[in-house]
Amino acid sequence: MLYSDKVMDHFANPRNVGEIEDADGIGEVGNAKCGDIMKMYIKVDNGVISDVKFKTFGCGAAVATSSIATEMIMGKTIDEALKLTNKAVVEALEGLPPQKLHCSVLAEQAMKSAISDYYQRQGIDPKPIVGEIGECEACH
Ligand code: FES
Repeated sequence: MLYSDKVMDHFANPRNVGEIEDADGIGEVGNAKCGDIMKMYIKVDNGVISDVKFKTFGCGAAVATSSIATEMIMGKTIDEALKLTNKAVVEALEGLPPQKLHCSVLAEQAMKSAISDYYQRQGIDPKPIVGEIGECEACH
């Protein structure tokens, strides 16, 4: 299986690993396809994601996609972050092998789940839809 240099870099040196103790939103999702799980923490200041961290019990592709996803949403507004798709994450990683595309959905969903939790704590409706793992845009 061939991984791009970018995937290898983010797998070997994942960015923003850990947790945020006083997080404003925490998301946890599981990938029904493989049983892997991911937790994402966000800190929000004036509608902007000022910090984001993740922890994953998942494969290398899941680590790499979450790592780059945290970089892509850091400093972005919630609305901008919600537009991030697994497809954009895969493109930023210069591709993933077809059988690993579903792993990239975990990062998108963990982020949406964290934002959904943030919305809930703020009493904002409607909450973002997290959806089902397996609806991988890049697969189609
Ligand atoms: Fe489970 Fe990649 S094999 S997320």
